[in-house]
Amino acid sequence: MSQTDFDPIQRALLAWFSANARDLPWRRTRDPYRILVSEIMLQQTPVDRVIPKYHAFLASFPTLEALADAPAAEVIRIWAGLGYNRRAVNLQRAVRAVRESYGGQFPPTAQMLQTLPGIGPYTAGAIACFAFEHDVAFLDTNIRRVLRRALVGPDDMEPRPSDRALLALGAALVPLGQGWAWNQAIMELGALICTAVAPTCRRCPISPDCRAYAARAAADGVSLQAMVGGAITGRALGEIAPRPAKRVAERKEAPYLGSRRWYRGKIIDALREHTSLPLSRLGPLVKPDYSESDTAWLRDVISGLARDGLAVLDGDEVRLP
Ligand code: ADE
Repeated sequence: MSQTDFDPIQRALLAWFSANARDLPWRRTRDPYRILVSEIMLQQTPVDRVIPKYHAFLASFPTLEALADAPAAEVIRIWAGLGYNRRAVNLQRAVRAVRESYGGQFPPTAQMLQTLPGIGPYTAGAIACFAFEHDVAFLDTNIRRVLRRALVGPDDMEPRPSDRALLALGAALVPLGQGWAWNQAIMELGALICTAVAPTCRRCPISPDCRAYAARAAADGVSLQAMVGGAITGRALGEIAPRPAKRVAERKEAPYLGSRRWYRGKIIDALREHTSLPLSRLGPLVKPDYSESDTAWLRDVISGLARDGLAVLDGDEVRLP
């Protein structure tokens, strides 16, 4: 497709974004350090929960230097409530690498950013775009879903496009000089309108150019013009995604309660509250029916945490690093 084929989508989405964008704190800065903090937090935590944590984290570590110099234990303590604690350690590793390899200045290209520990293609693209305003394409869950629906077809269409194919389609769509607004806009559409379950196509600025929408309209034998004009609302419009009940039933997540990841979280929570704990006191804090026979298991879970830089096991004493 040529650049001009995309013009209506670009114009409609950018106009929608300027009228509907949420005022999020990381949209008010171009500081790569702040963008990195926000992106790492947002990877596994919803926006509403991130906002207060983002402010608190930056109040404690206002600069890359402050974070690089802090004891890891302090960073892990401030990460409380966000979960996936490994992110705290990886974030600190990344900024330490920026200081050691780049004199404290973030490298500006996605390619160079990807050489930093813990920074994958998504985070590298997000920093290049949201801090340095480069016109680059990258994929996260929301962007992937929006591009797939708009440019390829409905969710249940087979075969599903590869990330490589989606990235190529997405790259051709980034408007020159407007990559920052464009990528924020796609994410915003995915978060507010083009949601995984029950998208509100009726309110979508790009539904007239959306392949998933057109395919569903054709399959339902409904005039697209009528749907876009709002003459028909409700059932047909939400159907570019499989029905919610089916999606929930299809989800096969391992139970979190009592899982290894759950115990890891409990151990870190206990260690946050204490300078140091012997195994014999830590055990009952994380497992009410803890007995001597659980010691090998506890040591094993802690070894995993130690390998990830989240704990130190010194003889029988455990503490944050
Ligand atoms: N999730 C990841 N990055 C985001 C951003 N910049 N705005 C909103 N949600 C996001």
